[in-house]
Parts: sequence; C-alpha cells; structure tokens
Amino acid sequence: MRKNIVAGNWKMNTTLQEGVALAKEVNAALEGVQPKCDVIICVPFTHLASVNDVIDANKLGLGAENCADHASGAYTGEISAAMVASTGAKYVILGHSERRQYYGETSETLKEKVALAFENGLTPIFCIGEVLEERENGTYFDVVKAQIESALFHLSAEDFGRIILAYEPVWAIGTGKTATDDQAQEMHAFIRGVIADKYGKEVADNTSILYGGSCKPTNAAALFAKPDVDGGLIGGAALKADSFMGIVNAF
Ligand code: PGA
Repeated sequence: MRKNIVAGNWKMNTTLQEGVALAKEVNAALEGVQPKCDVIICVPFTHLASVNDVIDANKLGLGAENCADHASGAYTGEISAAMVASTGAKYVILGHSERRQYYGETSETLKEKVALAFENGLTPIFCIGEVLEERENGTYFDVVKAQIESALFHLSAEDFGRIILAYEPVWAIGTGKTATDDQAQEMHAFIRGVIADKYGKEVADNTSILYGGSCKPTNAAALFAKPDVDGGLIGGAALKADSFMGIVNAF
C-alpha cells in the first residue's frame, strides 16, 4: 500500500550553516519516535552533502529541489541528477509551480528530468496544480489531468509506480490560503482516478499523493484525515523544526 509522507521544501531559504542546524534539529526531533509517515527534507543544492552527513538516513530522507534536464556537459550553473545522487540524496522535487512559472519548465523538460532522476536512482516528487484563474473558471481538473498526462503518461506502469505526486494549487502556495480538506480530497480522488484509468487500480492505490500549499500544524490533521491525501509537501512551515514536526505528528 501507499506510504504516508511529509516532505519539507526549503526553497531558497537558509544559509548552509542555518540549513545544517535546521536539519540537525529535525533529525534530533525524530530520534526515539516512530512517526506514522516517512519524513523527507528537500534542501538547496549547496546544503545536500553537509545535511546528508548530519542526518540518520533511516529516519529522515533527503532530497533536492530540482535537477537539470541534461545528463552532463556545457550547461553552466546547472546541477545534474547524478550530482544530486552523489551527495547521498534520494529524492528530487520536479515541476514545482515556481519552476514552471519563473524558469519556464514545461512537460517536455520535465520528461527529461524524470528520466534522469530514475537513471540516477532518485525518486521524483512531482508537482502539479492549477493557478487561481483556472480554479475560478472551473478548468482545474482538466489542467491537472493534462499536467500528469503530458509529463508522466509515457512512463511504464513500473516507472510510474516510483513517482510521488504532490498536488499544489498555486493559489494556496505561500499565501496562507489553504485549500479546504474537501477541495484537496476532491482533487486527490480525481487524480487517483486518472491514474487508475491509465495504469489500473493497483498502481493508483499505491501512488502517494501529497497536498501542498500553506499546510500548517493547525490544518494538517484535517487534510491528512482525508482518504486520498497521503501527506504534505511543506514550504514555509518546514523552515522551523517545531512547525515541521507538528505537521509530521498530525498523522
Ligand atoms: P507553502 O509551500 O507550504 O509555503 O505554501 C508549499 C510548496 O510550495 O511546496
């Protein structure tokens, strides 16, 4: 059966020293406890190797926030999936709305990134979600379905089964305006149905679908109680060990 997962997305926050300190705090908070979910932190590239050195990989997973759409070569400033994997990281967030919006990521580039992540043994945390206008004009189901189809439905069932999905309505990210637990459940159930139509019920039932967008200790329990919400991708609230652990403990 699918896993419950709480993953932090630190975005472009914390210096190396602050990030290592935060990772240590989260790691210490997990010592001696058995959370009812897998716990992952996705951190800036510059922090990966150092954070990997201070966490217990059996308790706390480590991921990057992106990787390049090429394997290696003359791409100044880019970080490849192989480089990410060489730090000890096991996960990579792909297709975050901020990357789609500000860095022009398309389904075509994301296909390459997913392939390279797999080649290097990384598990993609693949983000999808509609913008406010699409929520308001009622096209949000179509938009999310198209995002999944165009970037992921060329995959074999086996490969698709290695993906973690994160539904992040863009209007809820960093705005303090969370989707209601019913809105999240409605979309997550829809996504699971889209997967079932393509790959069958077993693959759909085994896919973890996280919710992201202003998830906090105060609303996490209600969101996670929904049958198709398998955890969260946490931005702002992942930057303090207390609030991140408050969300982990919401399961
Ligand atoms: P937020 O970000 O929790 O700060 O809204 C979530 C995300 O973008 O992954």
